[in-house]
Amino acid sequence: MTVDPPIRLGRAADAAAIAALSRELIEEGLPWTWQPARVLRALQHPETNVAVVDAGDELVGFGIMEYLDTDAYLVLLAVRRSDQRKGRGSALLRWLETAARAAGAERVRLDARRDNAAARSFYNEHGYHEIAIQEGGYHGAVDRIRLEKWLRA
Ligand SMILES: CC(C)(COP(=O)(O)OP(=O)(O)OC[C@H]1O[C@@H](n2cnc3c(N)ncnc32)[C@H](O)[C@@H]1OP(=O)(O)O)[C@@H](O)C(=O)NCCC(=O)NCCS
Repeated sequence: MTVDPPIRLGRAADAAAIAALSRELIEEGLPWTWQPARVLRALQHPETNVAVVDAGDELVGFGIMEYLDTDAYLVLLAVRRSDQRKGRGSALLRWLETAARAAGAERVRLDARRDNAAARSFYNEHGYHEIAIQEGGYHGAVDRIRLEKWLRA
């Protein structure tokens, strides 16, 4: 049996590390919209959860989820390159899905870059369905794919 690594709620002190991971892994080649001040607002927002995973003293992955009535929206999820394929992304996603269920969400929605084969494979493994493609959906430069998963009770 594989045991998930410990996941914790993000703190204000994590904002810079989360913003740096977003710039490097998610917003690569696009304008950097998740700068530390925006991450800090998410950390402090009552209807947003920021989950993080550490390796030793370092934050190596995070996920940000917003709650919108019966939907939860997974805003960002990333794991540092050298720590990928070790189950950390899955642990973060499971934690966020459990929190979404507890908050009354029936469905998780998210968007991903169409050219992001790793993310598409990852979400497919976790039972997400691709429901729409928006050409040029990211700043007119990159196609966007919309995914969703209905949560079981
Ligand atoms: C997507 C991401 C979060 C996955 O994190 P991770 O910790 O590597 O994921 P896991 O180790 O839990 O992977 C679970 C499964 O997903 C699939 N998967 C993950 N990465 C994959 C890749 N690069 N290629 C193909 N399948 C992949 C595999 O089925 C994997 O299981 P396996 O390793 O036993 O084959 C990570 O690749 C990442 O941070 N990418 C950059 C940021 C990003 O694209 N975020 C998502 C869009 S916001």
